[in-house]
Amino acid sequence: MSILVTGGAGFIGSNFVIDWIAATGEPVINLDKLTYAGNPGNLRTLDGDARHRFVRGDIRDCALVAGLLAEHRPRAIVHFAAESHVDRSIHGPAEFIATNVDGTFALLEAARSHWEGLEGQARERLRFLHVSTDEVYGSLAPGDPPFREADAYRPNSPYSASKAASDHLVRAWHHTYGLPTLTTNCSNNYGPFQFPEKLIPLVIGNALSGAPLPIYGDGLNVRDWLYVGDHCAAIRTVLERGRPGGTWNIGGWNEMANLDVVRSICRLLDEMHPGSPVVPHEKLIHFVKDRPGHDRRYAIDAHRIERELGWKPAESFESGIRRTVRWYLDHQDWVSEVSSGAYRAWIEKNYGAR
Ligand code: NAD
Ligand code: DAU
Repeated sequence: MSILVTGGAGFIGSNFVIDWIAATGEPVINLDKLTYAGNPGNLRTLDGDARHRFVRGDIRDCALVAGLLAEHRPRAIVHFAAESHVDRSIHGPAEFIATNVDGTFALLEAARSHWEGLEGQARERLRFLHVSTDEVYGSLAPGDPPFREADAYRPNSPYSASKAASDHLVRAWHHTYGLPTLTTNCSNNYGPFQFPEKLIPLVIGNALSGAPLPIYGDGLNVRDWLYVGDHCAAIRTVLERGRPGGTWNIGGWNEMANLDVVRSICRLLDEMHPGSPVVPHEKLIHFVKDRPGHDRRYAIDAHRIERELGWKPAESFESGIRRTVRWYLDHQDWVSEVSSGAYRAWIEKNYGAR
């Protein structure tokens, strides 16, 4: 038996592939286009491991995906591949529609055609797990209850609109064709191998080099933070026990304002890296022009996955962020590798005029 993972060289995908092989020993076919966000270096610990087969390619390449399904007959497709950064979706939404909408459509069609040709147990056990986001539910006001699975979709950014569209396609492929889909909507992940365009690794990297820590708007936007290892465990649980057609919200029960997240990183760096060019690191905090259409608050009600499938997060924000800061301090070579010329061009594009 094996599974097909898409986007397994990205942040969550690579954590998932490593976690999956360690936890189950089951082989993974890893299909990834290697965009700027995909990094085979994340999977270096699997070099030479026959349980990991990496294939460079696009999820929209129907012939490639059909060939992989026919050759390996995986028991599940776990779909992470996406354009994932909200700020990039504001600067250039086309790639988001191409990968997140067209790509998911192409993958669903390949999975459907494969599944329809299967018989018996192989057909019974196939699952298509679609990894999505809490951003599809829109923005909450301070006193609103957290997002639940039955809430209406109100996406506000090109990124979240493209993810919402992909969720609707997955729903329709189950409802109309009976494809055994599972959908997860999770909150902000953090942990090892996160590309430094996202808030937490960006702040750690900037603080270590004495650069300003850019806070959009007033810094009081709220996110729920989920340690990536907890997310990987949740996906394994949904795959194992989730009923086809179901959707599950996954969250860390850690709602925090951005400013508090940044301050806690600064305090940890003061303690764990006292040799930094600027201590206390909070002196580097710098308020900049807000993100257009910036959602004010996300919060996840993760009771369904706990009640139905028995999953809850193991890490608190305090334990998870400490592990994360430690990882970035110990992997400065990884950070330098991904902070290439293209990354610097992005930083100039997003922050230069703020
Ligand atoms: P990421 O940007 O780090 O990685 C995305 C991966 O997909 C990269 O390896 C990239 O090369 C690959 N990819 C992109 N386009 C592709 C294509 N057309 N064909 C094949 N591969 C392609 O993303 P991430 O943060 O790891 O997110 C993974 C998934 O989880 C995404 O679907 C995202 O929407 C979702 N999600 C992420 C978060 C988060 O906090 N990071 C939270 C909720 C949901
Ligand atoms: O909620 C889940 C989503 O979380 C995922 O679906 C997305 O793929 C993922 O990128 C993330 O989206 P966010 O926009 O919330 O993440 P980001 O790290 O970009 O920003 C987190 C918060 O920090 C957000 O309120 C914007 C703010 N921010 C971000 C950056 C990069 C800043 O204040 N300054 C910054 O420089």
